[in-house]
Amino acid sequence: MIVRAAGWFIFLFLCLPVWVGAQAKTATDAQTGVSIIPQPEQLKWHSKSGVVLRLSPHSPVVVEGVDPGLDSLAGVWKQSLRSLWKLQKCSTKSQWLRPAHPIHLSMSAPLGAEAYRMEAINGRLSIVAGDPAGMFYAFVSLQQILEQHPDGQLPAFQIIDRPRFSWRGMHLDVCRHFFTVDEIKRYLDLLARYKMNRFHWHLTEDQGWRMEVPTLTRLTTVGAWRKETVMGRPVSPMRFDGLRYGGFYTRRDIQEVVRYAAERHIVVVPEIEMPGHALAALAAYPELSCTGGPFEPATHWGVFDDVFCAGKDTVFRFLETVLTEVVSLFPGTWVHIGGDECPKKRWEACSDCQSRMKEEGLADAHELQSYFIRRIERFLGGMGRKLIGWDEILEGGLAPEATVMSWRGTEGGIAAARAGHDAIMSPGRPCYFDHYQAQPDSLEPLAICCYNSLSAVYDYEPIPRELNLAETRHILGAQGNVWTEYMPHFDQVTYMALPRMPALAEVLWSPPQTRSYPGFLQRLKLETRWLDRRGYRYARHFLEQM
Ligand code: ACM
Ligand code: ZN
Repeated sequence: MIVRAAGWFIFLFLCLPVWVGAQAKTATDAQTGVSIIPQPEQLKWHSKSGVVLRLSPHSPVVVEGVDPGLDSLAGVWKQSLRSLWKLQKCSTKSQWLRPAHPIHLSMSAPLGAEAYRMEAINGRLSIVAGDPAGMFYAFVSLQQILEQHPDGQLPAFQIIDRPRFSWRGMHLDVCRHFFTVDEIKRYLDLLARYKMNRFHWHLTEDQGWRMEVPTLTRLTTVGAWRKETVMGRPVSPMRFDGLRYGGFYTRRDIQEVVRYAAERHIVVVPEIEMPGHALAALAAYPELSCTGGPFEPATHWGVFDDVFCAGKDTVFRFLETVLTEVVSLFPGTWVHIGGDECPKKRWEACSDCQSRMKEEGLADAHELQSYFIRRIERFLGGMGRKLIGWDEILEGGLAPEATVMSWRGTEGGIAAARAGHDAIMSPGRPCYFDHYQAQPDSLEPLAICCYNSLSAVYDYEPIPRELNLAETRHILGAQGNVWTEYMPHFDQVTYMALPRMPALAEVLWSPPQTRSYPGFLQRLKLETRWLDRRGYRYARHFLEQM
């Protein structure tokens, strides 16, 4: 056993604002005495035991064994240390300067991926985790506990916890509107808070290409900028704002986001759209289209006829260059290649596309799309990556190893799982968080359509009833999607994502039998303190339901 001062003290500083900034002790869930989102698998809170543990920022942390994964966790807290040091200094008389009590951390692989046990007993807080992610989630739970017990005095408790699903995703479209690296980090902070572990970063679109590729500079000098943006809905007669709009992420920006996410045990899943939703790329390199252009990045929302030509080998060479860059920047297993909403009109009239179909013996344009995706899958597979696509990639035949993201309802996910492919459920209802979250929608900020209430998200069951037990193993989890046509500012993104994101997080983490919507609302109400303190804008309709 070794005592490691620096790294693990940093962990305690994360909790420091809790001690320092807290006012009165908060009310907690009547049944458990403490409130954690997402609800742990098992939580025993022995209020009657009296105080068995007094934590302070000076409590020594004991780490059993030396694990490089544990070491890497310390990085998360470093940033907190710098900004919170001042707070510590200005409250030297606070209660938290009390005799030290050890925190004991250890790893036990048999607990399983992302799992942890945390126990407070006899003056000791012991955390055992199945892997570094599990240790991180224990810290996240502890942070929430300490927010509700700002004096650091805790009764006996025990938490046994692990996630129900391995894919707990949130998506963000940075193409219809662009968000800074700092804003992306604030988004990732939310994912980490709710133990979500996949950030699907939608990086290319008709309206803007957002990823720098050093050898393809026109993607960002031309493709990242649109000359103006439609105002309101794109209905005739459309009105435009006349303002040039755009932005992109440099390699450094991307590396920074990937690093920040990894510290929080979040895998970044980049999406490079093909063959459709590619107008910004075609504006930069019109020779990659069927007609030769010219084009400009789209200035309004919709589905556009001009897509990557499936008959020209230069298109595949271009995409391979882009994907090689993607693979070098994103260490995660998955690369999302879009595949949705690709009109076939240009392919039908293109001699290159028609020749390709003849040469390859493809019966129709759906099979041509399937050829396209399979060819890209082979390339990604050669670099050790897995391809994910929206459910349209089922049309014309699924690529051999592809994972399907089911968005047009659940049918795509069901078909994929039945065919032995992995699937991620993200049906418009209730996983599209760009839909309205309250009725009447006339009182809400303009949104794309529809109504996905908080309770509908909370009641969502990702495993389709149609599947048998063996097939359900292919349902990796689910994901909330935030398309940003109607969200020009980051505050609007968080307004739409909150509180639906924590509701989905609980669906994906907690065993169904532990879930209760009224209980969730109680915990959510407490959670608003953290959201307020961190300056997140969120929808408050749920407060009226209580
Ligand atoms: C999608 O919403 N077009 C995947
Ligand atoms: Zn073509």
